[in-house]
Amino acid sequence: MANTVIIGAQWGDEGKGKIVDMLSARSQVIVRFQGGNNAGHTIRVGNEETILHLVPSGILHPGALCLVGNGVVLDPEVFLHETDELAARGVDVSPGRLAVSKKAHLILPYHKSLDKAREAKRAGHKIGTTGRGIGPCYEDKAARVGLRAGDLADPDLVRAKVRHALLEKNVLLRELYKFEPLDPDAVSDALLALAPRLLPYVQDTDARLHAAMDAGADVLFEGAQGIHLDIDHGTYPFVTSSNTVAGNAAAGSAVAPSALERVVGVIKAYTTRVGSGPFPTELLDDAGSYLRTNGHEFGATTGRPRRCGWFDAVVARESVRLNGITDLALTKLDVLQNLPVLRICVAYELDGKTLDYLPQEEGALGRVTPVYEEVPGFEEDISGCRDFAELPDTVRAYVERLEELAGARISFVSVGPGREQTIER
Ligand code: GDP
Ligand code: IMO
Ligand code: MG
Repeated sequence: MANTVIIGAQWGDEGKGKIVDMLSARSQVIVRFQGGNNAGHTIRVGNEETILHLVPSGILHPGALCLVGNGVVLDPEVFLHETDELAARGVDVSPGRLAVSKKAHLILPYHKSLDKAREAKRAGHKIGTTGRGIGPCYEDKAARVGLRAGDLADPDLVRAKVRHALLEKNVLLRELYKFEPLDPDAVSDALLALAPRLLPYVQDTDARLHAAMDAGADVLFEGAQGIHLDIDHGTYPFVTSSNTVAGNAAAGSAVAPSALERVVGVIKAYTTRVGSGPFPTELLDDAGSYLRTNGHEFGATTGRPRRCGWFDAVVARESVRLNGITDLALTKLDVLQNLPVLRICVAYELDGKTLDYLPQEEGALGRVTPVYEEVPGFEEDISGCRDFAELPDTVRAYVERLEELAGARISFVSVGPGREQTIER
């Protein structure tokens, strides 16, 4: 298999975990390249469900090397907790097959406090972040005051950086946000207490990745969130704090852009979004509740109910263009069963004009009216289908219409959460 980037083509939770797990059977290395534990990637094998927040979704394949790249922001406690849970279930999470880049930035308690404090202060126009400290950690990275995983080997450096960071952050926490300030020694002590367990994982992942590639390995680059949450290209300011586009797989894992050969966009057969921000096809009626219930649309990270709506082909087309998507993986098609009609948004109307693209002015997407095309629904249970030809005519027609509108081939169709419930075309 060619080196493949897997990204979410909507607003996250498209089923990336499932698709990464599936393609991991054909790859030797899986790398996370951005985001942090705001992500929740679910894999279902038999009756067992695994939700991964930081560890790459290839970990259930014993032979795979799993790397957490430099573009990720890593919460040390969450990482260790996740590896403990996996180990307790017999998964090999030894540093021989799981490593974290020395250059990955660390999420510290003050990042989480600031994330929560800012959201509390934004009453009325919250972003609805996951509260995991993602934004404040990327801010420190850009401000050149962050702690990186490799710093853990140098306790004096850790203490100096934490002290420096808290000089500023404690003023904000105490004076502006009326939150508890943090004690620099306590923060450093707690972090350094984890260092002996973390340091074996902290490696030169660039070298490991390049050695594997030189030996002919196929690499999977695992994206988190979705394209429309991208800090540059998403529905700003209702976005996450990293670039989620496929192009960032190169910078976030230390490979050349020319190494990215194939891009798989994971996309649901409808749309969901968690947190605030514009969502043109959102359904606030019974159809929306039906999708939420039937699709179990509750966050894998925060448990929040996900907002649900119809498939938006404008969103899909934009994703195909921004990411150079070579293949789409259409997920959760089974969830649409028993809806009498299916609607597909093919364009928007704004101020008397028809748009076939996403308007870029802040707030404009929140004012558009979707233009829908209606197609017949289906009543058949498709969760047992393993071949495209086995799908009812109406379902095949729906998939082919989405493919046509999105402008990329739908190479995978997922009809259930299980590993085997995937049709490869
Ligand atoms: P990710 O963040 O993109 O990895 O997606 P999440 O794991 O947050 O959410 C996707 C959810 O849908 C998980 O609960 C999956 O088990 C489930 N899922 C994935 N594909 C399918 C599918 O084709 N059908 C159904 N019914 N569930 C699916
Ligand atoms: P996966 O990888 C869905 C959303 C949050 C919020 C916004 C900013 O599982 O698809 P942040 O904590 O990143 O500062 O929050 O982004 N968000 C996600 N929504 N899936 C995710 O990850 C998300 N990660 C962040 O809900 O609206
Ligand atoms: Mg998720």
